[in-house]
Amino acid sequence: RYISNHSSGLQGLSIANAALARGAKVSVIAGPRVPESNSSIKRLNVTTALEMHDAVHQHLDGVDVFIGVAAVADYRVEAIKDKKIKRAETQDPNMSLRLVENPDIIASVVASKSAGLVIGFAAETHNSLEYARSKRQRKGLDAIIVNDVSDHDIGFNSQDNEVTFIHPNGETRYPRQSKGQIAEHLLDEIISVFSKQLDKK
Ligand code: C5P
Repeated sequence: RYISNHSSGLQGLSIANAALARGAKVSVIAGPRVPESNSSIKRLNVTTALEMHDAVHQHLDGVDVFIGVAAVADYRVEAIKDKKIKRAETQDPNMSLRLVENPDIIASVVASKSAGLVIGFAAETHNSLEYARSKRQRKGLDAIIVNDVSDHDIGFNSQDNEVTFIHPNGETRYPRQSKGQIAEHLLDEIISVFSKQLDKK
């Protein structure tokens, strides 16, 4: 038993494939459900947020663009039991699980100053644009891509997405389309908005 969410990893993998097709050297740090990736992509599988944090930092050297697409849990269960918790062992009919904060992986990437550009995603259920704008500022991201996960036809665990790309010079809305098409648009726009920073590489 564990606490997680139903993110499919499909949007992240679509971005990785689109970057590979454009000639980039791509590494993917993947959570448990991410589908199989192209053999030219360097792939690292992780299960927990702590493992993802460590794997990310071991692979940051020389990274031009870091894109954080994972729906990382902000909290984890403090004490993980290696055996089943038997109902009979607890006197109380209610059970509380103590949660502790996970590291904010993308903010730690920004703080490390190891990646040229740091781009994040924001999964929101309401006031999406306002929350995403402030999330971009708070985490120090170059750009953020916001999707509304309250609509079950798009975003989490769906083939399609509908996003707004928020960057220093403005915002672009991409209406509902496949995650592959969204990935192509996002890479086009990242390359055009950040051309100066990317040319220096
Ligand atoms: O889940 P949320 O919308 O707050 O995620 C915003 C961004 O922060 C995403 O790019 C996500 O991958 C990243 N994140 C992270 N570590 C966390 C939580 C979120 O890197 N513990």
